[in-house]
Amino acid sequence: MRVLSGIQPTGRFHWGNYFGAIRQYIDLQGADAAYYFIANLHALTTVGEPEILRQLTLDAAIDLLALGLDPERAVLFVQSDVPEVCELTWLLMTGTPMGLLERCHAYKDKKDKGIPAGAGLFTYPVLMAADILAYDADTVPVGADQVQHIEVCRDLAVSFNHNFGEVFKLPKPKLLDDSAKVPGVDGEKMSKSYNNTLELFENAKQQRKKIMRIVTDSRPMEEPKAPETDHLFQLYSLVATPEEREAMAAFYRRGGFGYGDVKKALADAAERYFAEPRARRAELAAQEGKVREILADGAAKARRQAGDVLRRAQAACGIKM
Ligand code: ADP
Ligand code: TRP
Repeated sequence: MRVLSGIQPTGRFHWGNYFGAIRQYIDLQGADAAYYFIANLHALTTVGEPEILRQLTLDAAIDLLALGLDPERAVLFVQSDVPEVCELTWLLMTGTPMGLLERCHAYKDKKDKGIPAGAGLFTYPVLMAADILAYDADTVPVGADQVQHIEVCRDLAVSFNHNFGEVFKLPKPKLLDDSAKVPGVDGEKMSKSYNNTLELFENAKQQRKKIMRIVTDSRPMEEPKAPETDHLFQLYSLVATPEEREAMAAFYRRGGFGYGDVKKALADAAERYFAEPRARRAELAAQEGKVREILADGAAKARRQAGDVLRRAQAACGIKM
């Protein structure tokens, strides 16, 4: 099995990104081949500040390594370090029907809201298809919102293969288990666009403050509460041990406790849960040269693979003389 996925450096990673995606990428890195990249070309459709994009790209790499992505087991690289993918994008673009892209939700949602969309956003799924096809990936772990893009990728691959011969392997999406959507500090789904995130590596003191300010309901302390539907409990469950989780659930059902105690327990459990990655991150951040080397090494491996596929595609469609 060849696994591939990309993650956009459009903000610092939060708990939702970790429990909903990154943790699962890391679990999959034992596959025959695993390619994970930081999708800075895609991020360019939304991040307009060069210094911020550069910094977020580097931060994303450091975060992924600190969280356990192992460059010995997975190829980690920055999307733009593999120019072959952009060449392949053009080959695919020439066979892409406008209607297919017009139906894609990232573009459609913006257009429906009357927000002007650039050609980069419009053709975003074609770049994503090239990202996938360039590495002969067969499994692409993604969130539900990306499944449509994998279908576009398959359509483009099928059509290219039909016109020019069997060049591309057909990938399948692997739906990430985000069934337990990580709630944000306001109880809604955690997302940087809602400004309700707990970042993975924010200053520990600030994080504790944020946790202490998490919105809760105003039911009286004595009233027993159902743990499962409470966002504070859901967050706690992610970072507590199973025993702690059970003890807390019993606490909820019995009633007579204060949310302040739950918040304190959550802050403590979070600090403990992320202590190791936090320490690793500090070490890596002090060795930027090493991180850059890992990315360069990943890019070299990725380019070899993408180059093979690009040459195959070029030969098939008559670009290579
Ligand atoms: P954001 O909503 O903050 O912009 P992204 O869309 O960049 O986050 O998230 C990248 C991936 O992280 C998603 O495809 C999804 O798999 C996962 N993810 C993000 N937020 C959550 C969440 N609240 N719960 C579970 N998974 C999430
Ligand atoms: N579009 C994806 C997202 O926003 C990121 C991405 C870019 C990606 N290229 C990819 C994911 C290729 C999987 C495969 O989450």
